[in-house]
Formats: sequence, C-alpha cells, structure tokens
Amino acid sequence: MATPRTSRAAHGSAKTLCIDIGGTGLKTIVLDAKGEALSERARVPTPRPATPDAVLTTLRPLIQASPAFDRVSVGVPGVVKRHVVMTAPNLDDGWAGFALGAALEGETKKPTRVLNDAGVQGYGVIEGRGTEIILTLGTGMGCAIFVDGVYVPNVELAHHPFRHGRTYEEHIGKKALEKVGKRRWNERVREVLEVLIPIFNPDVVYLGGGNAKKLKGDLPELVKVTDNVAGLLGGIALWRY
Ligand code: BGC
Repeated sequence: MATPRTSRAAHGSAKTLCIDIGGTGLKTIVLDAKGEALSERARVPTPRPATPDAVLTTLRPLIQASPAFDRVSVGVPGVVKRHVVMTAPNLDDGWAGFALGAALEGETKKPTRVLNDAGVQGYGVIEGRGTEIILTLGTGMGCAIFVDGVYVPNVELAHHPFRHGRTYEEHIGKKALEKVGKRRWNERVREVLEVLIPIFNPDVVYLGGGNAKKLKGDLPELVKVTDNVAGLLGGIALWRY
C-alpha cells in the first residue's frame, strides 16, 4: 500500500476524501489538513447485495462529485489488515480478502488507507490519554480500544457471546433495536456498559454510530455520546502514523 507522499500536500495542506462504508449507508466528505469539511457530507443507501463491486459502483459518483483530494481514508465494518478487508458480516461474504485499498488507489490514483470503521470513529473522538473505548451503535456494533492514543486493531466484540445465546451485536445492533423498541434497547445498551466497564476499566467510553442519538436518560459518568460524523472525521488521523 502506498505510504503518504512526502510532498508539501501530505505534510501541510493535504485534502482527505473520507469514506465510511456502513451496512445501511455509504458516506463521503472531503476534509482539509485541519479536519475542516471542504464539502457537505454525502450519503447514499448501501446497495444490496453489498458486494465489493456494487459498493464501489455506488461510491463512484460520490467520489467523482467530491472536491479535489490528495488521499483517501476508508472505514469498513469488519476486520481490516494492511488495507485488505478480511470480514464484513453486515455487507457480503465477497469482501473476505478484498484489497479495498488497492482497488480505490486504482480508481482514484491517490494513496488510500483502510481501517475498521469503529477504529476510524475512535480516531475522530479520542483525547489520546489512558484507555478509551468506542462503541458504535449502527447496523452492527463496532468496538475500538485506544491506549494512550494507540489503536488496538480489530477488537471484534460484536460477535462474542453476551447473554441469552445472543452476541453483543445481536443484543444491541440495528435488528435488536427494531425488534425490542427504543426503551428496551436503551436498557440493553446499559447492560452492555455494565459488563464492559468493569472488565476494561476505561477512562472514557464513547458511544457513536447512527443510533447513538436514540439513547435517552442518564448514562454512567465516564460515557460520552458522540456525533456520527466522527466516523468520517477520524479519517484524517489515519495519515498521522
Ligand atoms: C463488525 C465490526 C464493525 C461493526 C460496526 C460488526 O458487525 O464485525 O467490525 O466495526 O459491525 O460496523
């Protein structure tokens, strides 16, 4: 995978096209070097079946309509290793082993970095001190852990058993929300926090993702609800390392 260019653009004024591939929506935005938006956030529904080909075809007009950019950052809802997607449970089996970074570099002719979506989201919100956990509440349940700002890659809590034969994702993912309704789902999110906080003893837990806005009432003091746009804003941090 291409490394950041050592041009002035890469260091001082690089513009980043940030792409968030979600189970429900595909989102794009272009950010300047300070993370300020240079375009409106664009969003289109995720095609079904969400094969790599269908997703790339759906993204193409969004990419073409974007203002000029120097590099690309992508958040993917699954395990990502060296810019290759290993799993994408809420997209399609065809993603296993798909070299998304290389495919987008071929399309855009710009260096591209790909990371798990919760990891990207985390980069958009963390303070870089202590243990910070990000849970994303969307189609799936994303989880990312950062220790003093260092990302621990691909912590796939989503598919780990939680209780009553359900995984974490089956307990608080989109399908669960639709099935049990907002009130019970709110209780379930708290149940998950009650289990996770004493295990990881984080300094902060951020709750993000499209459904975080459906959280009502008090949450433990160390929990912060964040805006879903962080899923895109974190894209800029992928070029710091
Ligand atoms: C995937 C995670 C992803 C999360 C949110 C889960 O199903 O396994 O990798 O972060 O969904 O998209």
